[in-house]
Amino acid sequence: MTKPSPLRLTRPDDWHVHLRDGIVLKDVVPHTAAQFARAIVMPNLKPPVVTATMAAAYRERILAAVPAAMNFEPLMTLYLTDNTSPDEIRRAVDSGFVHGVKLYPAGATTNSDAGVTDIQRCMRTLEVMQDTGLPLLIHGEVTEHSIDIFDREAVFIDRILQPLRKSLPALRVVFEHITTKDAAEYVRDAEGDIAATITAHHLMYNRNAIFQGGIRPHYYCLPVLKREPHRLALVEAAISGNPRFFLGTDSAPHPKGLKEHACGCAGCYTALHAMELYAEVFEANNALDKLEGFASFFGADFYRLPRNTDVVTLQKSEWIIPDELTLGDTTLVPLDAGRSLRWKFIPHG
Ligand code: DOR
Ligand code: ZN
Repeated sequence: MTKPSPLRLTRPDDWHVHLRDGIVLKDVVPHTAAQFARAIVMPNLKPPVVTATMAAAYRERILAAVPAAMNFEPLMTLYLTDNTSPDEIRRAVDSGFVHGVKLYPAGATTNSDAGVTDIQRCMRTLEVMQDTGLPLLIHGEVTEHSIDIFDREAVFIDRILQPLRKSLPALRVVFEHITTKDAAEYVRDAEGDIAATITAHHLMYNRNAIFQGGIRPHYYCLPVLKREPHRLALVEAAISGNPRFFLGTDSAPHPKGLKEHACGCAGCYTALHAMELYAEVFEANNALDKLEGFASFFGADFYRLPRNTDVVTLQKSEWIIPDELTLGDTTLVPLDAGRSLRWKFIPHG
């Protein structure tokens, strides 16, 4: 029997990841840095990263956690609040290392309490982003408890995103970790400079995964997994070759004890095996030839950064996702812990 040929592709980037801070950086950063040349790093720390000065210090802490043998560039973001000033945006642009500003509607997800209470309060700041081309990265969910959690993304498009983009048509927008057919179609068809990231877990699973024979906290993330037709629409978008859709893992480390909890945290950890998971999805949909654009080209093009030039390999080789990984003085459970993967990521060509 001939050995299946390995897949070689330009080194990918992760356009949405949570690395956290402090003692866990040394456990988390190497996973992302092993696979990805660059990553857009989320600013939802405690306290959130709200100034370019804070982003500079956070960037240094991340770089200190990159193993000597690895090459990795963290692309920093600021956390938008009701009080983010236009001058702070100018400082961010001038820094050269801040590549986006993150909009968390207040209360939408982990550490979003300091987020935006009313987008109208941010209009002067958003105008400067429009003028300077600094992208707005959006967690697209309304937060009203009266709105069903499975509808919050679709309602956000109608109530917040469309009016915002009408007021600021040249604002560059990344609709982060989209989870619905509504979002995929909106991004596909909208006018102007808009793109979306898609996670591996939203491509692999529908909401049944959270309730498979009992409650499965490691499949709980925000925006929450949706019905099967939504998953299929995300797969269609990811494998379409449309440059508006690109890779963003939303890998989000939480201690095991805070996931397996009466009020478990939202987030799936995929940094260890992200490219293997995406490769499985693309392979299952006969679209391995579309993986490189999605993982390695379209995000860089949107963010107006050069494409990577080094090459990595995905080899057909089975390995088991570990049950637990170290996270500071505790552990975390990676997505699909214990299951066998068909691909193995090799960080060189
Ligand atoms: O599942 C999620 N986890 N969604 C988010 O938006 C935040 C993230 C986290 O920080 O844990
Ligand atoms: Zn996220």
